[in-house]
Amino acid sequence: MKIAIYPGSFDPITIGHIDIIKRASKKVDKLIVALLYNTEKSKGLFSISQRLSMLNLATNKLDNVIVTSYNGLLVDLMKTVGTNIIIKGVRNIKDFEYEKDMALINNNLDTNIETFFLFANPKYSFISSTFVRELLYFNKDIDNYVPSEIVSFIKKVR
Ligand code: PNS
Repeated sequence: MKIAIYPGSFDPITIGHIDIIKRASKKVDKLIVALLYNTEKSKGLFSISQRLSMLNLATNKLDNVIVTSYNGLLVDLMKTVGTNIIIKGVRNIKDFEYEKDMALINNNLDTNIETFFLFANPKYSFISSTFVRELLYFNKDIDNYVPSEIVSFIKKVR
């Protein structure tokens, strides 16, 4: 069984993330969407449990997608869940620079691990969780940037 992992901080999940999840899940038997966090390093806008709820709501209809969370290194989670394939989305050159180093460090930590990149759909390449958080801060609409399944959840908790 081909299992891959799509890690992120998902604070919150955006339609750009969902697009990558849908495309990647068609290429593997199982896609694990993993919320990686380190509460000591960064707090985030949404709590871990809120982010997990949003991930579950947004991926609910995708049969071969499961959601998990982990406080630690991605490579350690990957050993536990039994995969050596990382999926990442790349929107622009800034993502590329960062993700290249991340792929290399993960491969250094475990040489069996490979990272596969999907280019973001240009329609979504300007969307980021950071922008969504900023719009929320200034009470602007975020409906066009997050999966429809989580719009009312966000309105309830913000
Ligand atoms: O959504 P993001 O912020 O691009 O996600 C980044 C994330 C969480 C995938 C990345 O920071 C990560 O993998 N963190 C876990 C710690 C880790 O394994 N770091 C890499 C080796 S030092």
